Amino acid sequence: MSRTNQLVIEPLTPAFGARVTGFSIREGVDDGTLTAIESAFEAYSVLYFPDQPVDDEEQIAFSERFGPLEGTLPGAVGAGTKVARITNVMPDGTLKDPDSQLALFTRANIFWHTDSSFKPKPAKASLLSARRIPTEGGDTEFASTRAAYESLPSATQERLDGLIVVHDIAHSRAMLTPKALSTEQRAAMPPVEQALLRVNPSNDRKSLLIGSHAARIKGWNDGESKALLEELMAATVKPEHTYRHRWTVGDIVMWDNRAVLHRGHEYDEINDRRLMIRTTLAGAGPTVVDGIVQIGL
Ligand code: OGA
Ligand code: MN
Repeated sequence: MSRTNQLVIEPLTPAFGARVTGFSIREGVDDGTLTAIESAFEAYSVLYFPDQPVDDEEQIAFSERFGPLEGTLPGAVGAGTKVARITNVMPDGTLKDPDSQLALFTRANIFWHTDSSFKPKPAKASLLSARRIPTEGGDTEFASTRAAYESLPSATQERLDGLIVVHDIAHSRAMLTPKALSTEQRAAMPPVEQALLRVNPSNDRKSLLIGSHAARIKGWNDGESKALLEELMAATVKPEHTYRHRWTVGDIVMWDNRAVLHRGHEYDEINDRRLMIRTTLAGAGPTVVDGIVQIGL
């Protein structure tokens, strides 16, 4: 446990994650505290802030202290705004039709992924706040692609240097059903190239840019490409590299999309209600430009 100002940082697992207390978003966060949260974020990848109730405006204002936000996806409820509603409830209070494209699109969060890796500029971080939670299920689980990378034999690590992965939202949605992606969404979000290895510029630690959007390794045949992606996924989701968060209303979890994958566990979408609000910090830049891997993004 370490303290900076009033901040208390307690590791959640030996590999990654920390519970951070001793500050209040509603009462105001001074610059020193913000800097300490930022360094904890770089070091631990997942920060759990218990008992931080916020409304959308407060969540946006707090998130923007860390950098500019992404807009939400085309075809989602509230598309283009700064908050994503991760929910089975429509804004008018009725439940989403569980077979609708809107419901399927959100349900694909059950697969391990990193946010926006299907965009040319993948997201840096996400902040998720629990506004309403179901009686059972609906946990969010995290897996450290940094701990996974660091656990690989050096021969495997070397094999990964310079590789490019094609990320495609159609790939993750098709894991559920091709109906999860509309024609408009397909057209708006074409496949993109990403560096397989991401290097955190603040500490030079490397992680893997994989997950459900990762469709194939550029230039490799389907069999070899699938085998490598599966091998890397298996190394990542080992119990010693994961943390499962059981939500309480008022919790906020902030994670580093550059260093962890996450997935949302199932819950009763037909009879229960879950409302999570996400703000997403934009990435520093594309990880591949004109076929060339960019270091430090
Ligand atoms: C997300 C996400 C999972 C969950 O908000 O990006 O994947 O448990 N959420 O809601
Ligand atoms: Mn997500």
